[in-house]
Amino acid sequence: MVKITRKVEFSASHYCAVSDLSDSENESLFGKAARPTGHGHNYVLEVTVTGKIDPISGMIMDLKMLKDLINEQVIDIYDHRFLNKEVPPFDRCVPTPENIAVDIWKRMEKVINSKNHELHQIRLWETPDLYVDYLGPNSEQNFQR
Ligand code: NI
Repeated sequence: MVKITRKVEFSASHYCAVSDLSDSENESLFGKAARPTGHGHNYVLEVTVTGKIDPISGMIMDLKMLKDLINEQVIDIYDHRFLNKEVPPFDRCVPTPENIAVDIWKRMEKVINSKNHELHQIRLWETPDLYVDYLGPNSEQNFQR
């Protein structure tokens, strides 16, 4: 099996607050990120697909198609948006990088399902020194406390 990764960037704003908590509770949980006027990030997204190399094309998937799918499923929806107000489910779920990575997995997983390749990982960089990896719901079974 071979893995291949396509990287894209998008810009979006958000704030991190739980609606059931008070302003001061949110501020102690999320710090400045809780301020409801929001702040922006230049997110970097890496979508990794795994599969077998097709003996004819030499590819595990059509990379132009992968780029188009990322644009359609993620960039068109997330880029230059205020996530809490414009991108469900973040009207009711905190747009942390963890939750964004899971949402992107769900969007991409719907469209990457071939017998020759499958979605392997979503890596989302929120800042140059912070990223989240999500390997799908099957990976959660290994972590039960
Ligand atoms: Ni932030």
